[in-house]
Parts: sequence; structure tokens; C-alpha cells
Amino acid sequence: MATASRRVTPVHLLWYIFWAAFLATSVYFLLDSVGDVLSPDLQDGSTTWNRIVWYVGHAVIASPILLIAPLQFMPGLRQSRPQVHRWLGRVFLGGCIIAGLLGVYLGSTLYLPGSRVPLTLLASTWIFFAAVAWQAARRRDFVNHRKFAIRAFALGAAFVWVRIINKVQDDVLAFMPTEDLQETTKEWLTLLLPILVTEMWLTWGPTAKKLFTRRTMRESD
Ligand code: HEM
Repeated sequence: MATASRRVTPVHLLWYIFWAAFLATSVYFLLDSVGDVLSPDLQDGSTTWNRIVWYVGHAVIASPILLIAPLQFMPGLRQSRPQVHRWLGRVFLGGCIIAGLLGVYLGSTLYLPGSRVPLTLLASTWIFFAAVAWQAARRRDFVNHRKFAIRAFALGAAFVWVRIINKVQDDVLAFMPTEDLQETTKEWLTLLLPILVTEMWLTWGPTAKKLFTRRTMRESD
């Protein structure tokens, strides 16, 4: 009996592998960007206030979000230490909102014009998802809290997704004639892909599965 209760299902194992890989990749990219944060490559018209404070502020506030995410989404801690989950949740969602506000400014004023619209939309949607997740928790609507916290994570982790796309960009987007076009496409993909994957998992997939599953005799009456 004792052995049976300790058995790990394949789904759990994949979940652990996903979070371990995510954490390792996040740490790698965070360490990689320390140099950029300490000595930013400033664009024309930058001043201490309009760039450095916002830029460094965004990076410092956003970084813990990636490290907290695995703890928040692993079922163990949430169930065994609800107080810890609550406090880390405030840091996580508060960080998404503040880093997102700074991201709206940084994204909408970036020197690459093609990146401004997708980055501004990404940061604004990130803030919206985090605010709804927080409000749902306050109202004790845990179904929507979970869904919107997952959505906020998926967009916040754009920091990781965009760098992964960056690594394959030269091969995958090689058919595009200019680097500018590749950059713009990369930013739009960074916004769209996490939304597609998340909604496929949370809403569209289950709805489609239900609609395409053969009805039993009783249901079709
Ligand atoms: C938890 C998630 C995030 C972390 C840890 C994070 C971290 C960072 C760091 C360390 C930098 C400076 C290094 C670099 O430019 O490579 C940066 C820059 C930037 N981030 Fe984020 N970020 C996150 C999410 C976001 C989101 C969702 C947006 C949405 C628009 C965003 C927008 C930006 C922009 C536009 C810059 C560049 C600013 C510039 O070059 O002037 N970040 N971020």
C-alpha cells in the first residue's frame, strides 16, 4: 500500500522536468543579461531617468518572478504551506504588474519601431492577466485565479521565450529578406505563441475535445 501511494505518475514526472528545465534556462538567461543591465547599450535620447532607472527597475523587479514561478505552480507547496503560497503570490503578481508598467514604457519607446506595438501589447496584457489573477484570489474564485496566474506566467516568461526564439531565429526565419523583419516577427511570435499554447491547454483544447468526442446514446437523445 505504502509503495502504491508513493508512485509518481508520468504527468507529474513531466511537470517536474518542465519546471527544472524552465528554472535552469531562466537562470542561464538571467546571468547572461547581467552585463546588459549593469552597462546598458543606450539608445539616442536616453537619460538616467527615462532609460536607466526604468530599465534597471524593470529587470530587478521582474527577475524574481521567474524563480518564484516553479514554487507557485508545483502543487506540493500550495497545499502544504498556503501562507507561503499567498506571500509569494503577492510578490509574483505585484512584480508582474510593476515590471509590466515599466515594460509598457520601455517597449513603447524602444529604438526598433517594429517591436513597439507587440511589446506594448505584451506588457499591457501581462498587467491585465496579473491584476485579474489577484482580484480572483481576493474574491476566492480559485478557478479563475489559477487560469489567470497561468496566463500571467506565460506572458511574463516572454523573457525566456524571446531568447529561445533568438537562438533559432537565423535558421527558422532565414527566408525573411531583412533582419528588421525577422526582429518584428520574433516580437509578435513572443506575444502570440504563449497565448496560443496557454489557451489551447486551458480553454480551446478542452472545448474542442468535448465537441469532437463521440456522444453516448443517452447524450444524443
Ligand atoms: C519575468 C519576466 C521578465 C524578466 C525577468 C525580465 C528581465 C529583463 C531584463 C534583465 C532586461 C535587461 C536585459 C536585456 O535587455 O536583455 C529586460 C529588458 C527589457 N524588458 Fe524585460 N523581463 C521580463 C518580462 C518582460 C515583459 C513581459 C516585457 C513586455 C514588453 C518586457 C519588456 C522589456 C523591454 C522592452 C526591455 C528592453 C529595454 C531596452 O532595451 O531598452 N520584459 N527585461
